[in-house]
Parts: sequence; C-alpha cells; structure tokens
Amino acid sequence: MATAWRGGYKDGMKRTLLLPLLPAIAWTACTGCAAGPEPGSAMTDLDVHSYARPAEVRTRHIDLDLTLDFDTNIARGQVTHHLVRRNRHAPFVVDTQDLAIAAVTDAAGRPLSHELATADPHLGRRLTILLGHDTTAVTIRYRTAPEAAAMQWLGPEQTSGQKLPFLFTQGQAILTRSWIPLQDSPAVRITWNARITAPTGMTTVMSAVEREVDGETTTFRMDKPVPSYLIALACGDLASSDISGRCAVWAEPAVLPRAAAELSDMEAMVVACEELFGPYRWGRYDLLVLPPAFPFGGMENPCLTFATPTILAGDKSLVALVAHELAHSWSGNLVTNATWRDFWLNEGFTVYLEQRIMERLYGRDRATMEIALGMQGLAAELEELPPPDQILHIDLTGRNPDDGMTAVAYDKGAAFLRRLEQVYGRETLDAFLRSWFDQHAFQSVTTAEFLAFLEAELLAKGGGEGTVDIVRWVRGIGLPADAPIPESTLFAAVDTERDRFRAGAASSELRTDGWVTQQWLRFLADLDPVTPERLAELDKTFQFTRSGNSEILAAWMALAVRRGYRGVDRRLDLFLMTVGRRKFLKPLYEALLAAENGKARALAVYRRARPRYHAVSQRTLDAMLDYRP
Ligand code: BES
Ligand code: ZN
Repeated sequence: MATAWRGGYKDGMKRTLLLPLLPAIAWTACTGCAAGPEPGSAMTDLDVHSYARPAEVRTRHIDLDLTLDFDTNIARGQVTHHLVRRNRHAPFVVDTQDLAIAAVTDAAGRPLSHELATADPHLGRRLTILLGHDTTAVTIRYRTAPEAAAMQWLGPEQTSGQKLPFLFTQGQAILTRSWIPLQDSPAVRITWNARITAPTGMTTVMSAVEREVDGETTTFRMDKPVPSYLIALACGDLASSDISGRCAVWAEPAVLPRAAAELSDMEAMVVACEELFGPYRWGRYDLLVLPPAFPFGGMENPCLTFATPTILAGDKSLVALVAHELAHSWSGNLVTNATWRDFWLNEGFTVYLEQRIMERLYGRDRATMEIALGMQGLAAELEELPPPDQILHIDLTGRNPDDGMTAVAYDKGAAFLRRLEQVYGRETLDAFLRSWFDQHAFQSVTTAEFLAFLEAELLAKGGGEGTVDIVRWVRGIGLPADAPIPESTLFAAVDTERDRFRAGAASSELRTDGWVTQQWLRFLADLDPVTPERLAELDKTFQFTRSGNSEILAAWMALAVRRGYRGVDRRLDLFLMTVGRRKFLKPLYEALLAAENGKARALAVYRRARPRYHAVSQRTLDAMLDYRP
C-alpha cells in the first residue's frame, strides 16, 4: 500500500504553498529542465477545467485494464501512464471524480506517495503523485463508483433486447475522469491501449483503430494521439453490419437492419468530406446506435461515432447528425479545442462542415433549410442567453464546461465561417480550411492560434469582397449584422401555409403535399400562439402524435403541452420514460412547467423517469425542476 502523502494543503491554494511540504529539492528552477511549453502543444493557455500541469509532467500513452461488473455497476482495474517529464522535480497531477484509488506504484511496483484532494463540485478531486527521480511510468489501481458521471449502466429493460444489460461511456466534456484517472484536458493528447473484460455473451467496442476479441477479454489500440474526452466504450448485446470496406453500423440485433438502412450513405459522406477537406485519417469510420437513454444526439468518438436511435426516422431525414459527427473527424478530433472556452473551434467548424456535406449529398435546398432552422434556433437562444454567454470565445471559469454547449458555439460559429466564405469565396475558404487541418493535425489549438492563422493565411492575403470584423465575431455579443441569412423557397411555401392557417384556414385545406421533415419543423416552430382546439384539428389531419420522426414528434409535443392539448399525454409519458436525449427532454419539461398545473405533472413523471437518464441529463433537469435527489 502506498503511504498517502498528506500535505495538509487545500485545493485551490497557490502551488507555492506546497513548496515547504515537498522533499528537500523542491521544484523551483532547474537548469536541466526545459521550462517552456512544447512546440505546438497549446500548453501556454491554462485549462481551468483540469488540475493537470502537463507543461511539467504529461502522459503520452496509457494502458488501461478494466473488468466490467454488471451486478454492481462498477469497473475495476488499473491504468498505467507513460510520462514525458519536462520538469524532473514536479509531481504528476491527474484528475479524478468519484474514483476509489487502491494503489499507486511505479513500473517496478514500488508504491508512490500520493494525495487525493477534497472534491470540487465541477472538477472532482486532484490526485497528486510524487515521482522518483527515474520514474517514467505510473500505475494506478482503482475502481469506479456506480454513479460515475461518464458511465451509464442500463438494465435490460432499457434495451431493445430486454435480456442483457448495457453500458456506455460519455467523456465530453470533463467526465472521463470519473472512469479513468488521467490528465483530463483536451490540450493533452495521448495514445492508448485497453484490455476490457466483460461477461460472456456481451460485446465490447471502443473508439479505437484496432479491436481484437479473445474470450471474455477484448483489446483495443489507438495509435493516434487523442484528447481524453474521446476515449469511449460501450458494452452490450451488439452486432454490426458493413456499409463499405471502412464503414459499419453497430447496434443491438433488433435495431441493426433499420439502422443499417438509414445510415447507408455513411461511406458517401466520408468521401464527400475527404474531397472537401482532405484525407480521412482514422482508418475505419463506424457508427454505434445506442439505446434511447443516450443523452446526446451524437458523440464523435474516433473511429466509432456514438448516436441516439432517435435519428432512425425511416427516410434518412435526420442524417445531418451523422454528417456532423463525421465532420468532427477533422474539426475536433484531428484539430481539437485546447480548452473548453475554445469549444466553438470544434462545434462551429463542425456545423459548417456538416452543412457542406449535406449540400453535396442531398442538394442545396436541403442544406439551406437545415441552415435556416439552425439560425432560427440561434436567434431564439440569443434572446435568453446573458450577454457574456453570447460570445464565441466564452469565459467558463468556475463553471461547468457544459454551459458552453449552446447555439452560440454551434450556429454562430458556423455563421462566422459562412461569412468568411461569402467574402473570400468558397474555393479560397476551402483551401484555407484544408491547410488549417493539415497544419494542425493531431494538435490542440486555442482561439488565439486560430486567429493568428486566419490573419496570416486568409485576411492578410487580401482579395475579399468586403470585410469581416473578426473581433466583433469572436468577442462580440449577439449576431453580427453581416451574418449571411439563408433564403429558402421551400420555407417560404411553408410560411404561406402557416399564415393561412393562422388566418383561419382549416388544416385539411393546407397545401402540404410533398413536405419534407425540415418543412414540418419550420411549420411547427412558428405556429404559436395556437389554441388546444386547433391543435386537435391539426393532429387529426396530420397525425403528429403518431409521427415516427423524433424531431417532429418532440417539437409537436412541446407545443401541445404548452398550449394544453392533452391528446399527446400518453405518447409524451412513453417518450419521457424511454428517451434520454437532453435536447428533447429540456424543451418538453420546460413546456410542462409552462402548462397549467405543470410543475406537479413534470415532477410526477420526472421522479419515475430520472433513474433512466444519464447524469448529464439529470444535472440539467434537476436544476430546471428544482429537484433535489
Ligand atoms: N460533441 C458534441 C456533443 C457534446 C458536446 C457532448 C459537448 C458533451 C459536451 C456532438 O458532436 C454534438 O454536437 N451533438 C449534437 C448533434 C449535432 C448534430 C448538433 C447533439 O448531441 O445534439
Ligand atoms: Zn458536435
């Protein structure tokens, strides 16, 4: 057992206070140590969401060995960190959350002195490990807590097969520390190997380039340096179906045929993105369709996107999400935000790439409608957001990085790139983006680094038709006046029918023939105010409550609940009990709160449904509903 190192200092105290507590040779300047940041490592900017000090000691590779216990919902095992030591006197500091640390040793198995600090509500507990002079590897034996925020353990009743349990992890933004003790900052890139042992009959997959099954143990290899939030695992009754030589869909067997049909354009999407922005550098591109409890639409785990089954509409109408997660293979996974305040570099770029892929595969009309829906959502959200949160380069100090997951990073970020495209032309912007990805491949970058590159490689070269006020876009609030406004004739047709409906035309008289999903979403987004009677009439004509399209259904139910149309109640109850996707849950519970007697109704269903939701959805809804577990 390691002798715990009890320095008696408090978290958050200046590190100089630690000096007297450390062995005689403290870590002040040492002539043998290069103190500056490594080139291209983005380690000059402080990541306020991690305790790690990678400029001093950083992990370059981890070997993970875990056994999954579905009886207790605990993972047990160890992780070995292989280190780069820039400052020989500095300790190795990792992030942890709700982990039970059993032992910390060096490569020879010798215990290393360590201390686990008190927990910060957002950041968890800092684990500080003192290194011997020659220590190059550190092994941490540990187990996770059943409530580990990154892990969602599902009972068989939450799966389509209803027989086996299921586990998936969600790392972004700072949840990986709740299942692996590591330097949980996107500025730290590591390669990794994993050895995962699971019960017989269950299949384990990870966000890795290589996978090998040997009995109950599956081993994985990721040989490209990735940030910690992109390490992901899922385990359950899974099967796969090939789309192409490098693309496959994974899902529970009962879901697989539907999933494979819906996602048959995956290979064409990869090709489109390669043509636009350079080679796909990750080998395979697979997609895992998770049970409906998954809290997000999609998560861009390398080589293996995780996705909600609510994108399976039967007509490929919601596959923009796949284009989005795939695009992260360039913007996000290849070139990564160095800190969470640079999140717009991940998401804004990715939404722009997504829009370009959609245009290439499905045409300009479809892409324009999707852009317009995004801009409509952005406008609505800007009305609610406090001014500091309307800034692309947002300050998230002292907050949960999740707070930056707004339409500002996504749609304002993408609008900025569309504005650059408008001024400099598509060809020029494409070449610029391609060189951005090429020159920063497998690096983590800050907003400042992007702005310097933008200045040198685009703005300074001139040739634009007009100017772009970069400072206004990146540091200003609201939406700059020069934001390009998408013009959709297909939406103009919808708006005409909506106005006729508003003026009293019967639902059955509306000219809706041939409307696609995005047009219905436009229609529903703009209907309010409307009476319950008119909603009942619409439902009779268009059968919204029976829609198999989750986006249409969720928009419809939110409107119905808000306006007191009770025809959706049973469908809503079923939806809230099965779907854990936060993007849907939030407006639905919000609508309940706004309805008559809504708080009691909301809490009644939330009490039943909450145990089925992932920690990130729980956190959002607990706050919204004032719920204290
Ligand atoms: N990387 C995000 C999901 C994410 C962001 C998880 C921040 C945790 C913290 C993913 O790429 C994403 O943006 N998903 C969207 C769908 C997309 C089409 C806009 C989602 O889940 O809704
Ligand atoms: Zn994204």
